[in-house]
Amino acid sequence: MIKRFEKYLRDISLNIRRETELDMNRRGFVAASLGLIAVFFLSSIPFVAQAYRKTVEEKPDRIKIAGPDELRVGDSKTFAYPNPNDPAILVRVSEKEYRSYHIKCTHLQCPIYWDKTSGKLMCPCHNGFFSVEDGSVLAGPPQRSLPSIKLSIKKDGIYAVGVIHGTHGGKTV
Ligand code: FES
Repeated sequence: MIKRFEKYLRDISLNIRRETELDMNRRGFVAASLGLIAVFFLSSIPFVAQAYRKTVEEKPDRIKIAGPDELRVGDSKTFAYPNPNDPAILVRVSEKEYRSYHIKCTHLQCPIYWDKTSGKLMCPCHNGFFSVEDGSVLAGPPQRSLPSIKLSIKKDGIYAVGVIHGTHGGKTV
């Protein structure tokens, strides 16, 4: 009688046996975990690939920033590029060389300025310093270099022709 009752209970419980139930749960848990890990791994591939690309170059419209002799060596000029809310700076570092960067600090977005005396780009908020040569961080809390503006020097003036993120560029072309 008891055996028949047990059989009846097993039948209505879809044949799940108590002794194997725990084993099934462990297997299910391991399979689900591996599946989740695989999904996370596969979905992160595009982001990892993006991080490994050294530079990301935008080629927005070309705009004229300054006339051919508008700046003397050591002088700077602010402008916006490529959009009105993207403040940038142009620095004439020698007779024939210019550098240009976005001036939102890569720490907490304070505006940086060109300090002609020290020859560095400075952020007054937390004493961040950037190299005018390549926009790299010299000191302070910022961890990333400044995005650089690609320049083109023509007879009639200096043009902004693109933005380079994640590099130590910014030299004239
Ligand atoms: S915002 Fe520039 S150093 Fe903090």
